[in-house]
Amino acid sequence: KDSLRELGQKVGLRIGAALNPDLLGTDAAYTKIAKQQFSTVTPENVMKWEVVEPAKGTYDWSGGDKLVDFAHANHQRVRGHNLVWHSQLPKWLTPDGFTTTYSSAQLKAILKKHVQDEARHFKGKIWQWDVVNEAFNDDGTPREDIWYKAYGNLDYIADAFTWAHQADPKALLFYNDYNIEFTGPKSNAVYSLVKKLKARGVPIQGVGFQTHLDTQYPYPDLRANLTRFAALGVYVAETEVDVRTFTKPDAMNTPVDGVHESAQVAYWSRTIQDCLSVKACISYTPWGFGDAYSWVPGVFAGEGAALLYDEQLQPKQAYTVIQQDL
Ligand code: XIL
Repeated sequence: KDSLRELGQKVGLRIGAALNPDLLGTDAAYTKIAKQQFSTVTPENVMKWEVVEPAKGTYDWSGGDKLVDFAHANHQRVRGHNLVWHSQLPKWLTPDGFTTTYSSAQLKAILKKHVQDEARHFKGKIWQWDVVNEAFNDDGTPREDIWYKAYGNLDYIADAFTWAHQADPKALLFYNDYNIEFTGPKSNAVYSLVKKLKARGVPIQGVGFQTHLDTQYPYPDLRANLTRFAALGVYVAETEVDVRTFTKPDAMNTPVDGVHESAQVAYWSRTIQDCLSVKACISYTPWGFGDAYSWVPGVFAGEGAALLYDEQLQPKQAYTVIQQDL
């Protein structure tokens, strides 16, 4: 059977994965799958602000550069992730992750410099940038992070897109979030935001649906949501797909029993079919590809087995079903 990237190419859809460049070259099986299976890659962590500017004014692009070089050597495109977010910020900017001693004026200048410097550094090498990540709460109210507080509103979003576009005019600029797969206050808030940005001429070309799903919740009305966002004139993408479930917990929250695995397989199948059914859906990216490396067990108690490959990097039923659906 063909690889996911080959099957995707036949239907005009790029299949991706979040990658950790530390494993490229050190884990042979991981490296092989990363090359063979995917035609777009996302840095899981190495382009985040805390990594790229660990001390104020001191940049470390090494992880991001390594990932970009790997991608280009293997004819893969890169989803840059991310420029503006409330999380994984450097300690010098916010020691506790919530507050900062910088003034509003200083924060605006810091944000502008960061967006411009990072987008310029990777200029011409990024297919899609997640310019702003996770700006809303689940109830649709704005997340009151340091950027929101500095501006007193959500105008930092328009600024970030404008700066990113100036720095790298060819990159497709995305707003990215979770829990917007289903219709509700949060996806409505993002929908209104995108509509307003488009009306104001702000350069936004896409919306990323993270798609971190959990079999204990109903499958979202993702197709309807992708469709209504696409009607605004933006691309859409599934950017961080994983399907977690309750497992028999060990260190990695594996293995999973047959009943839970069947539920996961059904969810995976629907995620790819939903993207395939919407013309504007231009990429489909699981958040990694081996259960041993997944972020899920560390964050969601008792849950795991959320990816297409098991902890020995063997493809699971979910992999086979994606292959069939493509
Ligand atoms: C996660 C990474 O997978 C972890 O390794 C890290 O410790 C925390 O961040 N939404 C996002 C991603 O946009 O950046 C997050 O990635 C997962 C949730």
